[in-house]
Amino acid sequence: MLKVNRDDDRPIWQQLLDQAIHNITTGKWPPGELLLPSRELAPLIGVSRSTIQIVYEELFSRGYTVTSRRGGTRVSDWTYATRPSEDAAEQGPVLPDLPLLDGAIGHLQSWFGDKANRRAIEIDFSPHEPYLDEHFQKNWRHSFLQASTETNLDSWAYGDAYGYVPLREQIQRYLSLERGVHVGVDQILLTSGAQHSIDLMAQALLQEGETVSVEDPGFPAAWMALKYRRMQVVSVPVDEYGLCVDRVPPESRLVYVTPSHQCAVGVIMSEPRRQQLLHMAAEQRFWIVEDDYDSEFRYRGDPLPTLFSQRPQNTLYMMSFSKMIAPGIRISAIVGPKETIRQLARVHELTYRHLPIMEQLTLTHFIEHGHFMRHMRRVRNVYRRRHEAMTKAIIATGLSERFTLSGVETGLHMLLEAESTFDEEAVTSLAMDKGIRVYPLSKYGLNSDRKGWVLGFAKVDEAAIEEGIKRLAGMLL
Ligand SMILES: Cc1ncc(COP(=O)(O)O)c(C=O)c1O
Repeated sequence: MLKVNRDDDRPIWQQLLDQAIHNITTGKWPPGELLLPSRELAPLIGVSRSTIQIVYEELFSRGYTVTSRRGGTRVSDWTYATRPSEDAAEQGPVLPDLPLLDGAIGHLQSWFGDKANRRAIEIDFSPHEPYLDEHFQKNWRHSFLQASTETNLDSWAYGDAYGYVPLREQIQRYLSLERGVHVGVDQILLTSGAQHSIDLMAQALLQEGETVSVEDPGFPAAWMALKYRRMQVVSVPVDEYGLCVDRVPPESRLVYVTPSHQCAVGVIMSEPRRQQLLHMAAEQRFWIVEDDYDSEFRYRGDPLPTLFSQRPQNTLYMMSFSKMIAPGIRISAIVGPKETIRQLARVHELTYRHLPIMEQLTLTHFIEHGHFMRHMRRVRNVYRRRHEAMTKAIIATGLSERFTLSGVETGLHMLLEAESTFDEEAVTSLAMDKGIRVYPLSKYGLNSDRKGWVLGFAKVDEAAIEEGIKRLAGMLL
């Protein structure tokens, strides 16, 4: 018999329902058992008939009971055990072994500089993070609030897999004015960062096992994403002129490059190498993936022309707001031939659909209302001062005589390179003991044995740069 407990906080119908379910699932009310009609049960328990009706309706709608053709409500036929057997495993399904993932994640985290392993770091020469200040936060908040109040309700529906059109229009304008890249909005697909872009390319443009070439040392996230999609990743060395194009295997279907500022060693790809790569891409009909992640920050001359503008039919141009604004925004773009972008957008539609609307609306407002260009002007000034402080300190301490300094023309990091026999790890760890974090070049390597330290200056002010480089010189010289 069901019982009501007046001290129980649950509503009466809920108490009775829970007891009924317990009785059914433990077999106390066996399959086929006829339930007492509500009008008979209600007075026995001392509740209203409508309370019993609620309980019966709930049992019926959840499938615990059926209405019988012979009349009345009966317990359903249970054909399965409601409790796991004694020897059933405690845990859920077994996770598959993913050896590619385990290796890649470990490497990726140590390349980033293992946040978990943060000892007391006073000066962090991170090459991963840009400068941010309260101006940015204030303006971003303004755009965020405006975006959430101004918006048309249609924006909140399922949107365009290519990305929010007004944002693509702003990017189109920016690329045309600042990078000499003139494209239609249907040649721009918005993604959530470089790894997302590369992963989409692997899914939409390549077949499992195809050969792809990457710079070595280079951007680990690029080759790891490609390896994870089971591409045959070939490492191609980089020298003072950029990618050694004659080492690119002719069977490559895609070649990933950072020609404006090589991701690890910082060199600019020379014009002859660019022409060689463009010629080879045309002859072999492969994709050049041009990752233009930080070229807006150039300390000598104008920004370099893109490979995309020279051979748009073979090039997929990647741009990102991670260095220009902040990596947490997670908005980037792939620019390419119309049909190719369509193919990427179709895969995007199937696998992710599109980016969240609020971030897209906010960024659109941020660009449209001039905050973005003002932010760029402000951070360019900050970077120019920090860049100068860094190069001066490296020269003044004598580090540039003992080691090779490169990659100083563009971007937010430079390289201090040692001989390949140098004990890079010992210095990295010693520096950490002295409160300085430097980023070993070996973490950018696939097969490369080059050693040194990638030194980012975006998040370190001039005084800290001077102090950090002085301490580093004290250790190294
Ligand atoms: C070579 C390279 N490409 C792209 C990016 C931008 O990555 P994401 O768009 O995933 O933030 C970075 C950031 O550090 C980078 O180093």
